[in-house]
Amino acid sequence: MSILECTFDGLTLPNPFVIGSGPPGTNAKVIGKAFEEGWGAVIAKTISLDSSKVINVAPRYARMRAAGSKEVIGWENIELISDRPFATWIDEFKQLKDKYPDGVLIASVMEECNKDAWVEIIERTQEAGVDAFELNFSCPHGLPERKMGAAMGQDPEIITEVCSWVNGAAKIPVWAKMTPNITHIVDPARAALEAGCEGIAAINTILSVMGIDLETLRPEPSVEGYSVPGGYSCKAVRPIALRMVMELGTMMYGGTSGKAITESGEPAVPGEFVDRSLSAIGGVETGEDAAQFILLGAHTVQVCTGVMVHGYKLAGELCRGLEAFMAKHGFNSLEEFRGHSLRYFTTHAELVRRQHEVKARDKAERAGMVTKDAAWEGDSFVEQSDRLVSND
Ligand SMILES: Cc1cc2nc3c(=O)[nH]c(=O)nc-3n(C[C@H](O)[C@H](O)[C@H](O)COP(=O)(O)O)c2cc1C
Repeated sequence: MSILECTFDGLTLPNPFVIGSGPPGTNAKVIGKAFEEGWGAVIAKTISLDSSKVINVAPRYARMRAAGSKEVIGWENIELISDRPFATWIDEFKQLKDKYPDGVLIASVMEECNKDAWVEIIERTQEAGVDAFELNFSCPHGLPERKMGAAMGQDPEIITEVCSWVNGAAKIPVWAKMTPNITHIVDPARAALEAGCEGIAAINTILSVMGIDLETLRPEPSVEGYSVPGGYSCKAVRPIALRMVMELGTMMYGGTSGKAITESGEPAVPGEFVDRSLSAIGGVETGEDAAQFILLGAHTVQVCTGVMVHGYKLAGELCRGLEAFMAKHGFNSLEEFRGHSLRYFTTHAELVRRQHEVKARDKAERAGMVTKDAAWEGDSFVEQSDRLVSND
């Protein structure tokens, strides 16, 4: 068994690397390619019942490169969900499960706030044989105009309602994908988990304006001279994704959550959903990036833009990078370090208190005071005792 194998929500993945919903999972051809290149699971491009309402524009991407280099650090898209008919997707899900029975295939779904539509899409898609669902409560552009995607994900009450419809119909695990375009990501996540979802995925893209062309004075990406704010992804968003995953990990699995760290290093605040899963997304391109998300509690790590920049073979490099990190620390399974770093977050007041403690100790040592038992010496024992007396 590979040390990267992971089991949660009744699913077993050969490794934690999952294709995130988007162009890398947009039809059966590319999903097949992902399974053949060894990805642990694939989340298909988001589908809805009526694709005729989905009309994309071109160009629909804009990239930011590092100064003086070809390296892509930021990526904005104004792409909508899949424009392919629901019936086509159902056929392709069946074909994929026939051809890759062991491949973990996850359908991403989005619908209007209508119970019948959600129940229909869940029932018909699970009959096609997919292994799990991801609910797209997070697409930041285009469909919020129809109260879909992020417009739902920003409202915990709507999440509660939609997740209870979905969980009433779903017989397979359900993850709710969260939008980062919100102040407190834990509120909608808690609503989804309380409504019975098996897991949380975060983050989707961050609402952004990539830039203004200083020749034409028009925003990018430019479609006939006009634009709309889009979703920002790629390595530039990773620190924001890490922060949000840290907040979710703390809420779900416990942590310090602003309270003092216990002497034993145990979480001072117990987790509210320790039996649920967390799928981290945002700017992952290396095994080391993934290790950081796992240290914050993630079971899986999704990659979308990284595949658009580096191709499907990235799976092999991600696995090798994560295995090298584990070998360096002597970890034999992902569970051995999942969530380990959550305990090192605390309040600023606690940082100040700890720093004072260290400074006070240094001062005491400089004054020749014994601060550790190993420092006691037989020849200067009396002098050492004298120096420790505070009231002479
Ligand atoms: C071009 C593009 C299209 C995307 N389409 C979808 C989508 O249909 N459904 C969805 O849930 N997320 C979609 N996403 C968001 C990604 O799944 C992911 O949450 C986000 O890009 C951050 O991860 P990354 O930095 O690895 O790309 C899309 C992202 C990009 C770049």
